[in-house]
Amino acid sequence: MEVKMADKFVKIANFSELQEGRGLQRVVNEHEVGLFCEDGKVFAINGECPHVGGPLGEGFVEDGKVYCPLHGWPFDLKTGKCLTNPRSKVECFTTKVEDGEVFVCVSE
Ligand code: FES
Repeated sequence: MEVKMADKFVKIANFSELQEGRGLQRVVNEHEVGLFCEDGKVFAINGECPHVGGPLGEGFVEDGKVYCPLHGWPFDLKTGKCLTNPRSKVECFTTKVEDGEVFVCVSE
């Protein structure tokens, strides 16, 4: 049986759960994922801060960045780069929205 790329996408939320300026922290395939919506676009990044593991999906969101709720490190939602510590970066995951549902592509 043919395996399609879409088969790797896993539902993570309903689009109606997302709010501008606020993230969601979810677990997908045993990965912590931070999910965000800004200007109508959906972003997903590794939800575990590389500093000491703060839940990035619970951070404050502004101007394309999420601030870790524990110590405030800012991460770019598009690139995953930490903007104050160039050696730190979190993985970004591909997202798609279909029929009001949000899917994220996370390895198993
Ligand atoms: S745990 Fe995220 S900045 Fe410290």
